[in-house]
Amino acid sequence: MKRHTPAWLESAVFYEIYPQSFSDTNGDGIGDIPGIIDKLEYIKSLGVNAIWLNPCFVSPFMDAGYDVADYYTVAPRYGTNSDLKRLFRLAREKGIRIFLDLVPGHTSIEHPWFKESCKHERNRYSDWFIWSPNVWTGGKQYIHGYAERDGNYMINFFWCQPKLNFGFDKPSKDEPWRQLHSAPGPTAVRAEFKKIIRYWLDMGASGFRVDMALSLGTAFWKEVRAMLDKEYPDAALVSEASNPDRSIPVGFHMDFLAHFGCPVFNALMRSNITYNVPWKMNGAYFSRHAKGDAKRALDEYMRLYRTTKSMGFLSLQSSNHDMPRLRDDRTFDECAVALAFIMTMPGVPFLYYGDEIGMKDVKGLVSKEGAYNRASCRTPMQWDSSKNAGFSTAAPDKLYFPIDPDRNRPTVAAQDATQRSLLNTTRALTALRKSSPALCASGSLEFLYLKRETYPLVYLRSKGRERILVAVNPSGRSAAAAFTLPKTSRVQKLLLGKDAKLGIKGRKAMLTLAPTAYAIYAI
Ligand code: NOJ
Repeated sequence: MKRHTPAWLESAVFYEIYPQSFSDTNGDGIGDIPGIIDKLEYIKSLGVNAIWLNPCFVSPFMDAGYDVADYYTVAPRYGTNSDLKRLFRLAREKGIRIFLDLVPGHTSIEHPWFKESCKHERNRYSDWFIWSPNVWTGGKQYIHGYAERDGNYMINFFWCQPKLNFGFDKPSKDEPWRQLHSAPGPTAVRAEFKKIIRYWLDMGASGFRVDMALSLGTAFWKEVRAMLDKEYPDAALVSEASNPDRSIPVGFHMDFLAHFGCPVFNALMRSNITYNVPWKMNGAYFSRHAKGDAKRALDEYMRLYRTTKSMGFLSLQSSNHDMPRLRDDRTFDECAVALAFIMTMPGVPFLYYGDEIGMKDVKGLVSKEGAYNRASCRTPMQWDSSKNAGFSTAAPDKLYFPIDPDRNRPTVAAQDATQRSLLNTTRALTALRKSSPALCASGSLEFLYLKRETYPLVYLRSKGRERILVAVNPSGRSAAAAFTLPKTSRVQKLLLGKDAKLGIKGRKAMLTLAPTAYAIYAI
């Protein structure tokens, strides 16, 4: 498939905003779109050029908006469609594109399509969801006895998220009621989702993060990519699949290496969760405890990178709304080393709101909107030292989630004023990335020092004649490396970082790094 890649992705850095918790302008305790508009200058100052907005559509919010009840309308608590349109326009004037969150795998139980589908009488929506032929059939993935209709519906995630019927690739022996793509129900569902995509792109969105992207198979994405390449060549899609060698060939421009599906993120960043890592882990690589292993994680990264790089980009993220924050069990310096890595790797990096100031997880919160243990990373943005950390004027008990009660919690205002803060380090890293073609999405990557259970990690990014050497030492001890460069070289300049020594003679290099440090050199 001959494909078009939007040129802006080359220097893209995304900022993920969980709208509930970013900035509240109407004092109801929940963030809103005018709040994001108010903060555009700040967002721009981070050096990002795109925003991914978690779902902001009408919803009963049983899964924080990932249970959509109307794909065409902004949830009133966030504002109106005109507010969103204004956000698209004002952001774009500042060089920032907006991605919405598309949730095609399932609707909420309150979506009118589903309500119709639940009815006994056959109607236009009867086959828009996956129903077993009567309430005595269907297995664990089905909700039994919910509807007037004699049948059980298949779910995609929580019980209240009925799976939409995009059609299956082949018939199923166990579930003969499953329909193929060509059936009328799936055909209508696919047409409707193309309409939804067009609707928001026409209004000014620049693309979508696609929720559980492969839960509906792959056929639809080939159709969508062909449509985008032809009608919206500047738009792009990032899949939540964590399966880039499957998602990118079928049409996605980018895929996350997230916390499930793929071991790379877990092995590098998350010491406490070991699922989906097919080897024994003692801890994350990016940790002062220095018990991790980057080799196996990055060998897997390299495999994915090689198979996808002619077609699309891998996306590393600082964290997201489903997992502990970057700061979880990390100091500010450790966060800086991890961000130095994320911002100097190929592909398209994502920064989760608040990670740029090292916001902490707030543990022990009562769940809300289906968050459960994910509540800890969804607390309000900490802007300054005023009431509710500047997030909202509401009474504290009316806030979506409480503000981090720590008296020393980080804020934007305090870090703005401190030269060496994590905030200003983040800005320096994004600025360096943007100014250096070798560090952008398609600059090549070669690991120069990457050994089993060893620190530091050293790699080279190049494009044309520009060559950038990156060294990271997440461990709490100083670390040294001797390695060979692909070509003779000399150190031209330390671009960012500190407490490092690099000596080069011909092709031989010798490097030492202080504990928890990174260094980025032009060579
Ligand atoms: C992944 C989203 O990131 C998560 O927040 C949501 O609960 C599930 N998909 C279901 O839509």
